Amino acid sequence: MQDTKDLSWEHPVFKVISEAARHCGCRCYVIGGYVRDFLLKRKSVDIDIVCTGGQGQSADTGNSADGPRCGIMLAKEVRSALGKQARLSVFKNFGTAQVAYKGLEIEFVGARKESYRSDSRKPIVENGTLEDDQNRRDFTINALAISLNADDYGTLADPFGGVRDLENKLIRTPLDPDITFSDDPLRMFRAIRFASQLDFRIEDSTFDAISRNRERMSILSAERITSELNKIILSERPSRGFIMLDKAGLLELVLPEMTALKGTEVISGKGHKDVFLHSLAVLDNVAAASGNPYLRWAALLHDTGKAVTKHFDEKTGWTFRNHDYIGTKIVFRIFKRLKLPLNENLRYVQKIVGLHMRPIVLVEDKVTDSAVRRLLFEAGNDIEDLMVLCKADITTKNESKQKQYRENLSLVEQKLKDIEQKDHVRNFQPPVDGAEIMKVFNLPPCAAVGTIKSAIKDAILDGKIPNDHEAAYRLMIEEGAKLGLAPALPVQA
Ligand code: CTP
Repeated sequence: MQDTKDLSWEHPVFKVISEAARHCGCRCYVIGGYVRDFLLKRKSVDIDIVCTGGQGQSADTGNSADGPRCGIMLAKEVRSALGKQARLSVFKNFGTAQVAYKGLEIEFVGARKESYRSDSRKPIVENGTLEDDQNRRDFTINALAISLNADDYGTLADPFGGVRDLENKLIRTPLDPDITFSDDPLRMFRAIRFASQLDFRIEDSTFDAISRNRERMSILSAERITSELNKIILSERPSRGFIMLDKAGLLELVLPEMTALKGTEVISGKGHKDVFLHSLAVLDNVAAASGNPYLRWAALLHDTGKAVTKHFDEKTGWTFRNHDYIGTKIVFRIFKRLKLPLNENLRYVQKIVGLHMRPIVLVEDKVTDSAVRRLLFEAGNDIEDLMVLCKADITTKNESKQKQYRENLSLVEQKLKDIEQKDHVRNFQPPVDGAEIMKVFNLPPCAAVGTIKSAIKDAILDGKIPNDHEAAYRLMIEEGAKLGLAPALPVQA
């Protein structure tokens, strides 16, 4: 583990803060996430500085300062010592200030003592000592503080054995976990998020308290929960986080569509796999191949349509007909509820979920070029991501089956490459567009324009006409005639 005395050379800014504190006559400490990450040798740009009022007086103002005022005063002093490259923001109402400097965000706040009411995440805050401030922190590993004061510079204040917990990879609350979680239920998600991100274990009594207090999550906003879910999804092996969420009973409250996939069922000796565990395995596989959070969301949710489409037939066994399409609807509901962005990121996840069954169908010999072209057209630039998910979707433990599926997908990839090279359809725009159709037939925007446009697109994707303007124009005239439309402009030769 990193030696905290190294902090003086870790970043020159700490010496500047130390000197500024001496000047202001207050005491200050680096605290929380930065210290944790420093000891774990993880890079962090968010530095929290907690200040307690000192005995001394500010050299500039002659004022002695209490904690909150000291935070703001210290931030101002640090900003002027760092010069023009530093930017200061003061939040008077909160008694905090922030200095942005060369990519670092340094937050200054007075030491606080907090108490909570049962109906709110917002605590009653009073001035406090460093110890009070450490007591109100969520986990022992987040309650570590390092002194920046000249008399004990670099000394670690670790009242709850946070360093030992870092070494043992353990998430534990400093005080009674029932109080910690009931006070601020977001911490239940944070515990699981840290355990997932850092590959730590949650200590048993802390974990049990999460289960006991899970209903308290009802006072949290969707945005706060989703921010933690996103961090879990971005961890190296996100399945760990989702398994913990499930075991604590939180997953059922935030993503019931996932817990609905749990378990297997056997009828007439035929079983189906546990779709919940399968989805988590796919998520881990995608995480190993891609850092794209939305491809990871697609992996997690790709089979959510299976819970409602599950059907058993004596002849065919288990089927999940249309689960890909139903999945796109469920994805929308989940994104809306979790306040995930309802923009191109949602459309991307829906697209990947909606198309995830398509590549594998292209394996058969008799598959037409037209089917391959259609997939390329529909997936567009997301075809590679779709293939990442399809490969990740192979979770069978049976080695020969696994080999067979992998070879099949390689064949599909080859087909996709060959057709793209020949026909360039992945970014395909039909050579005659709606505007031209309206101009030629002197039409306002109407259904006929869409019908003609689709006919042209289908003919090109089906290989019936070449992908050029002349052929498309000719087809447009023919399709117009079928609808009783005559060109208002002279027809091109
Ligand atoms: N904290 C807390 N309870 C919370 C949120 C934060 O006690 N619900 C404390 C912890 O001491 C934490 C510090 O505030 O270390 C800073 O919080 P934050 O910046 O949200 O998290 P970090 O621990 O820095 O981790 P990350 O940046 O990964 O979110």
